Amino acid sequence: MKKTVLVGVTGCVAIYKACEIVRGLQKAGLRAKVVMTEHATEFVNPALFRALTREPVAVGLFDDAPGDPIHHISLSKEADLFVIAPCTANVIGKIANGIADDLLTTTAMATTAPLVIAPAMNVNMYESAANQENMATLKRRGVRFIDSESGYLACGDVGKGRLADPDVIVSEIVEMIGVKRDLEGKRVLVTTGPTIEPIDPVRFISNPSSGKTGFALAEAARERGAEVCLVAGPVALDDLPDVETVRVKTALEMLDAVSRRFDGSDIAVFSAAVSDFRPKDPSASKLKKDACDSRLSSIELVENPDILATMGARKHAGQLVVGFAAETEDVVENARKKLVKKNADAIVGNLVGDGKGFGTDDNEAVIVTHDDVVRIPLMSKRELADAILDWARSNQA
Ligand code: PMT
Repeated sequence: MKKTVLVGVTGCVAIYKACEIVRGLQKAGLRAKVVMTEHATEFVNPALFRALTREPVAVGLFDDAPGDPIHHISLSKEADLFVIAPCTANVIGKIANGIADDLLTTTAMATTAPLVIAPAMNVNMYESAANQENMATLKRRGVRFIDSESGYLACGDVGKGRLADPDVIVSEIVEMIGVKRDLEGKRVLVTTGPTIEPIDPVRFISNPSSGKTGFALAEAARERGAEVCLVAGPVALDDLPDVETVRVKTALEMLDAVSRRFDGSDIAVFSAAVSDFRPKDPSASKLKKDACDSRLSSIELVENPDILATMGARKHAGQLVVGFAAETEDVVENARKKLVKKNADAIVGNLVGDGKGFGTDDNEAVIVTHDDVVRIPLMSKRELADAILDWARSNQA
């Protein structure tokens, strides 16, 4: 389950940067929920944060969420971390002095989650004795500050008080909350879903792959900081935010899309269930059953190119290639054969059929490499994705 960061937003010109903070947290795989002060709503309508987070945005102390009469307590318990960014001198002063007179400050007082403050204000306010003492008090109590930067301020003054860079705020939160960003700077290519091979305009050869495995891999890789490209056969899943998703239908289209992107990838994971064969001469018009069209009763097939084997033969030093093996028996042995034949670095073997593998939300697997077999017990496909990426990360030069 995603960790929740409660983002407190106060009334300050730097409020526009809170949007970037929310987006950055989401990109890092965190759930962001926003609580605003009344003053903050003078700058920005809560609808903006509601749209960004797709969550209700809390403002008034007595605007209870439906079925939630003590909102500041439920919010405070929901949070794995509470960051107030931008945080005004007024709100710093209130929290330091135990004043809890609105939803944000009562939540700050009620929460037992780590509290992080990113101040933003005019330089003279920042340097004022009151603000300095309030910040020192909060630091003594364990509140973590992501300090303001010096520079040109919205009021025209120059000095300390500018909100820290949103990227800095996000990366400090990510580090504090313990989310892995171990694929930062890596490019990950994933194939997923089935391919469909037309017989005629209304019939095709395919298989029941749902794409869940590859979408989970793409999501996990993105959340761990990678730049991700997902090449997906026809599946009913929506595009993932911040993942380049290329939709294809046939194995030949998948080969073309993969081939264009493979050389630039650091890790390539082939989870797609590619049709091994395609009809040799697909008909441009619907074949007639009644006419006993021989092209329907006996379909001539030709072999599709093996995308994994083609890329395996082409892989360059430092690139990691992970294939899958969908088996109904002898998973390890068959995975080992595919490992060698397709020049992969690892094959994720899994049992399919009998309600396993295809279309399910969970799976169990073995990661077979040239010198090891790692057994992965039954877990969600998202957890399996992380286990595969853990393996890839620890085996890449
Ligand atoms: O999509 P889901 O519903 O989540 O289901 C997940 C899954 C069952 C599809 C997945 O776990 C899985 O096993 N994927 C591989 C399916 C498959 O086609 O296995 P295979 O043993 O036939 O192929 C071996 C490897 O070669 C695979 O990496 C496959 O992508 C690749 N291949 C196969 C044929 C081909 N022409 N080109 C290929 O690249």
